[in-house]
Amino acid sequence: MSRGPFVTPKLALVMVGLPARGKTYTAQKLSRYLAWLGHRTRIFNLGEYRRAKLGPSAPNEFFNPDNPEGRRVRLELAMAAIDDVCAWFGKEGDVAILDATNSSRERRQFVQARFDSEGIQVLFVEVLCDDSEMIEANIRQTKLASPDYAGIDADEAVRDFRARIAHYERVYEAIGEDEASYIKLVDVGRQVVVNRVDSHLGGRLVSFLMKLHINPRPILLTRHGESEFNIRALIGGDPPLSALGRGYGRALGDYLREEFDGEDSPEIWTSALERTGETASFFSDDTVVLRQLDEIDAGICDGLSYEEIAARMPLEFGARARDKLRYRYPRGESYVDVINRLEPVIVELERQRRPVVVVAHQAVIRALYAYFRELPREACPHQSIPLHTVIKLTPGPYGCAEERIDLIEQARNRAN
Ligand code: F6P
Repeated sequence: MSRGPFVTPKLALVMVGLPARGKTYTAQKLSRYLAWLGHRTRIFNLGEYRRAKLGPSAPNEFFNPDNPEGRRVRLELAMAAIDDVCAWFGKEGDVAILDATNSSRERRQFVQARFDSEGIQVLFVEVLCDDSEMIEANIRQTKLASPDYAGIDADEAVRDFRARIAHYERVYEAIGEDEASYIKLVDVGRQVVVNRVDSHLGGRLVSFLMKLHINPRPILLTRHGESEFNIRALIGGDPPLSALGRGYGRALGDYLREEFDGEDSPEIWTSALERTGETASFFSDDTVVLRQLDEIDAGICDGLSYEEIAARMPLEFGARARDKLRYRYPRGESYVDVINRLEPVIVELERQRRPVVVVAHQAVIRALYAYFRELPREACPHQSIPLHTVIKLTPGPYGCAEERIDLIEQARNRAN
């Protein structure tokens, strides 16, 4: 039976690259994106296997290709990780990310042959970077904080890590065109080379990876101001703002003018519904209107209150309470549907180098928030996203900082 174009095959993403080139960063981004889309994804980091077996640190000599004992142990560790990947696929996994240098052709052939024999698709993701400033920043920002160098003097740690890189450089073989199915990322998005990637998911990963960058910039998420429906506790619809909601629009405008004083003005994205456009209009009319940001479609329940739904359609109400993530309103949407339609928005948010303010709705903000905060999908529909609050997210190399700015008081003061 054909598995169809949109079904995830068992896929091993095998990272390739010298140390400090951003493999772990890329692996984590891929993992977050895939998990948010609903693929059961896990990273298998070879450094963790080494530390579990040999203790927290290993001197650079361990990585010397002329050290036969080091070579033997490293191969053994790689085999243990690959065994775990295969076992995990046997149980529940969709996508495994093998985070290791996989720096020789011989090693990659070994990995490929093993996964082939288990019926697991392999896609190599090679991270190349010759920008010495970027490498230096990576060494200082991430490697010094690694458990490998806990308690070791910073200069000594940098010296040792550079020696480790030099050992790898002596034997490193970039992936050749004849080799395999791969995506090569050169200098964080400057160039992306794709070879023999023909699956649906592979294509999405290419498009995602092409947009990644490491320039810090905030993403601000907010619901629209209070609407006429919010006052009456009705869901959906396309109502205008209430007086308090307009007060929030003004407060938000003032906050944004103060926050982005000068050249770094943000892009403003709204849904196609009246209440988000109206909220944003107090700051700017130059907005990007995206239908993907419209609120979850409540289908036949649109325009009702939760009490009315419970009274008129108790089975539907109960089904949603049991599985809010997957429950689909009759002739409407589920949270899973919302996540799927937001995928291009996430890819575009990753690409943006300017700050972006997203003015949208409760379910939509929950889905975007779940992505940036790496929440389990089941937790997404239950996040607290109050009205009249800005959620400022600042993506960093490993995770996303969050600040909540409560503009409720200002909204009250500015309501007419
Ligand atoms: O109540 C406001 C609202 O935006 C509704 O339009 C929407 O149906 C709802 O929130 C989504 O929240 P929940 O998934 O908790 O019902």
